[in-house]
Amino acid sequence: MYLAATPMKLLFVGDIFGRPGRDAVHRFLGPLRRELNVDMVIANGENATHGTGMSDSAYRELAASGIDVFTGGNHSLSRPDTLALLEAHKDVLCPGNASSMLERHGWTVLSVRETSVAVLNAMGQYCLTAGNNPFEYVERMLDIPEIRACKIRCIDFHAEATAEKAAMLHLLDGRVSAILGTHTHVPTADARISDRGTAFVTDVGMTGVVDSIIGLDPSRMVQRYRTGIAAPPKVADGTATLMAALVEIDETTGQALHISMLQRST
Ligand SMILES: [Fe+2]
Ligand SMILES: [Fe+2]
Repeated sequence: MYLAATPMKLLFVGDIFGRPGRDAVHRFLGPLRRELNVDMVIANGENATHGTGMSDSAYRELAASGIDVFTGGNHSLSRPDTLALLEAHKDVLCPGNASSMLERHGWTVLSVRETSVAVLNAMGQYCLTAGNNPFEYVERMLDIPEIRACKIRCIDFHAEATAEKAAMLHLLDGRVSAILGTHTHVPTADARISDRGTAFVTDVGMTGVVDSIIGLDPSRMVQRYRTGIAAPPKVADGTATLMAALVEIDETTGQALHISMLQRST
């Protein structure tokens, strides 16, 4: 039995990018869980396999490292085996507003310290091909009985535009414990707890090679931008940095108490 005075600690890991990102998870996640007394880990896995989606083998490898729930993004949908992965594992999500067919894969509920925790995943519409409106999707999901029953409700909002992410906070302020932004791979310096107890950050960042172009090999990307001729993208070589947000939540009220950003690299 846990006392209400002991907040639940949720670690949210930014987009895991390719082999270097997976290696950083292996190296840092176990020690972080112990050092910070983390109760639950959510990670965005949309770039886990060669930067595009997540294979079944990458899923197994990362789940064994201590990730409880995987969220996704636009790249989750680029692999032909995505639907099989989503259907086989209820701890793997994709943005539920990506298409009407994927609505059920945009949320899951799990029990942490005997408290029901809902995790939701949606993606923005600016620069991304979301089939449905993310604001309508999330509000509708928050109202279904399984999610309404959860005191703690966390959202990965995967979006390009900072304004879309801020709008999601203002729409859901006080109705969810945390809204963690992903997709840009660049961490923002605006982590805060709203007056109504929602933890928010525009972007958590990525778990990948920092000396890169959002995880990709710079020379290929520069060639592409300089000439306008597409060069096949390649995951950047090097040692990755793990970027994450640590959120402390009062599980009796569902309100977030504290959020801090952290990075680990060798
Ligand atoms: Fe990503
Ligand atoms: Fe993305």
